[in-house]
Amino acid sequence: MHFQWYPGHMTKAKRAMQEDIRLIDVIIELVDARIPHSSKNPDIDGLANGKSRVLLLNKKDMADETIVNKWLSFYEEKGYHTIAINAKKKNELRQVNELIQKACQTKIERDRKRGIKNRPVRAMIVGIPNVGKSTFINSFAGRACAKTGNKPGVTRGKQWIRLNKQVELLDTPGILWPKFEDQIVGQHLAFIGSIRDELIQNTDLALDLIEFLCEYYPNTLSNHYEVNETCDSVAVLTELAVNRGCIQKGKEPNLDKAAFLLLDDFRNARLGRISIETPDKHKGES
Ligand code: G4P
Repeated sequence: MHFQWYPGHMTKAKRAMQEDIRLIDVIIELVDARIPHSSKNPDIDGLANGKSRVLLLNKKDMADETIVNKWLSFYEEKGYHTIAINAKKKNELRQVNELIQKACQTKIERDRKRGIKNRPVRAMIVGIPNVGKSTFINSFAGRACAKTGNKPGVTRGKQWIRLNKQVELLDTPGILWPKFEDQIVGQHLAFIGSIRDELIQNTDLALDLIEFLCEYYPNTLSNHYEVNETCDSVAVLTELAVNRGCIQKGKEPNLDKAAFLLLDDFRNARLGRISIETPDKHKGES
């Protein structure tokens, strides 16, 4: 299957982000824990301009824990301050605060030496659509936090959320678009539902997902849909359609409907915690 992406106002958004990045000390980047590689826009490295980096593998509740831990080691080795989170769980986010302080240790030390005490670090959230940026900001900031308002001269037009004495967060996240010259990246984004539906052939995508699941998560489909896991993905989807009553006129199995059902179950983690990407394939990449 061939994926295409129409990035819209990407250049304008990138320029705005470049401006915002000047105002902050640390970039908090969110990726999807099931596909960290494909949900991470490489452009951010160029935009980051030497700022401290925090990388949050979000939606950990949907990803395979063992593989998530491998990804954490992978990114730590690359110099990121990283943890896996579930942005919906407010109580888990305390650790993020500690991580931000750790990432900004050099700046905090520098301030201290200059006699500046208790100046909060400034952070900005970035990530591709649907990784959970708004959910994270809502959970992390909570209701208790007041907006600090505009600060004329320095940050005109920007709203900051004072999280606590130590951290201020820019209230609008930086949206990056997924990037894929690589079709595999497109496929992985489509699996998790991060590519607009009209660009996708659901049936082809479901067949790809069946092949993936049979290889890496055997018995998932047989347990869930009582199908035989053969290497013929069309046969598997057909059996799934029959078992789940996806039938069209003439009593033919409706593969489109079955594909939608499978993708929907997968995207909502009803098939269990599944990671699409492992770091093994990306060792040696910058
Ligand atoms: P964005 O700002 O980066 O575009 O993402 P947003 O916060 O809108 O989150 C996209 C979807 O992902 C939302 O689901 C949100 O609830 C869900 N989500 C975010 N973080 C997590 C997480 O850690 N775990 C899980 N399981 N889901 C997460 P939605 O279906 O679009 O909306 P709704 O279910 O909240 O109504």
